[in-house]
Amino acid sequence: MYAIEVENLTKIYGKGVTAVTAIADATLQVKPGELVAILGPSGSGKTTLLTSIGLINEPTHGKVVIDGAMVADEGWLPGLDLKRFRREKLGFIFQAHNLIPFLTALENVMIALEINYLTRKAAAVRATELLESLNLGHRLKNYPSALSGGEAQRVAIARAMANKPKVILADEPTAALDTENGKNVMALLKKLAVENHSAILVVTHDHRMVEGFDRIFHVNDGRIS
Ligand SMILES: Nc1ncnc2c1ncn2[C@@H]1O[C@H](COP(=O)(O)OP(=O)(O)OP(=O)(O)O)[C@@H](O)[C@H]1O
Ligand SMILES: [Mg+2]
Repeated sequence: MYAIEVENLTKIYGKGVTAVTAIADATLQVKPGELVAILGPSGSGKTTLLTSIGLINEPTHGKVVIDGAMVADEGWLPGLDLKRFRREKLGFIFQAHNLIPFLTALENVMIALEINYLTRKAAAVRATELLESLNLGHRLKNYPSALSGGEAQRVAIARAMANKPKVILADEPTAALDTENGKNVMALLKKLAVENHSAILVVTHDHRMVEGFDRIFHVNDGRIS
């Protein structure tokens, strides 16, 4: 079974003369445990592809199946609880880490677990373990403003992996990092794919980072090859 199946996905923004076809007729499959890169020039549709798969952006046409469940078929499936599905099955990592500024590193990870009904105590234990495994044991009580770029991105990764999601969607996760931190983040994503059996889609411009991927999709003018 595939973790992600996309069939003839098209995303059109706007209507009429101002309509933009950002993704045109994309078909792809990703297996559990696969680490896949999405490469392409600016404006080619990479973020649109990711957010259309990730239940953030409603597909205009085509099908999206995540972990065996149909989520879109000519638009989102009626009655689908998008928030719940995202929370249970998906993890997101963005270029800007999107940590909550008034929560500590530990609390930023705990919150992902608590919204999936872990008790506060259990969430604290798991979040601490995760952050320690990412060499952030000494930063648990720091607020995002007191973390380096690489540290903050590792906290964001810990948060995305907290619930062991089937699918992780990362949009330029290494763009704001230096080469060494970028490589660390990539190594972590690889480990996560293998150990958690998560399918991981990584949008990148960053040609330094392309080694280590199982597969590469190229996006040009909304078309995948
Ligand atoms: N919300 C939107 N409304 C209208 N058009 C949009 C919207 N978001 C993106 N687009 C257009 O869709 C196309 C694809 O954009 P997208 O953000 O997916 O590209 P990208 O490959 O992620 O680019 P970048 O590398 O610069 O992040 C572009 O032409 C863009 O202008
Ligand atoms: Mg983008």
